Amino acid sequence: FSAGPFQRRLLRWYTAHQRDLPWRRSKNPYHIWVSEVMLQQTQVATVVDYYRRFLQAFPDIGTLAVAELQDVLKLWEGLGYYARAANLHKAARQIVAGGKKRVPRTPETFGRLPGVGDYINAAVSSIAFGHPLPVVDGNVKRVLARLFLLDEPVNRPSNHRVFLEKARLLLAFKDPGTFNQAMMELGALVCKPGRPLCDQCPVASFCGAHQAGRVTDFPRRLAA
Ligand code: ADE
Repeated sequence: FSAGPFQRRLLRWYTAHQRDLPWRRSKNPYHIWVSEVMLQQTQVATVVDYYRRFLQAFPDIGTLAVAELQDVLKLWEGLGYYARAANLHKAARQIVAGGKKRVPRTPETFGRLPGVGDYINAAVSSIAFGHPLPVVDGNVKRVLARLFLLDEPVNRPSNHRVFLEKARLLLAFKDPGTFNQAMMELGALVCKPGRPLCDQCPVASFCGAHQAGRVTDFPRRLAA
């Protein structure tokens, strides 16, 4: 398995087939942060309108920091997981209290803010600042399980590092943000949970499960 040819196939596909999503048109790290916080637990189709309304009301970190929490929560109504909104608000206040008004550029500093766990940190740091951190969400785990015939159940937290290590091996260091989004997009549009569209997959020739005729055996999950 060689990462270079895999990356080139994936990125060429992504360039041609990616969805036109509002946060992909932005280079603003705060916009990308807001989008990733919303996307962490909510579907893309739902996020689009919330994202627009949220940034209309709170266009930058300074505006968010001086807002009342209840006004922030109001715009989050219906998205669920309200701790996400409260943490984002708190993080904005911490940035401003520290005399800054921008998203910290290093993963070390960014990761100390409330609500910024490994997923948000990798997503924002790679997409906004080009740091080579692999993003592993549910879509990416499914892609990796099929590519590498990974037997580890995706819903067992202790297996997370197995998927992270595989993702790190594949990561394109030249443009990790685009690579990470391409992996998520492949999972969302082609390497789907129910019926994957292998005939449209740009990396089917790299895929262990596809070669073995076993795509529907992966990813494995433990019974709930
Ligand atoms: N899910 C989480 N982050 C995403 C992104 N940047 N694009 C598409 N789906 C996502």
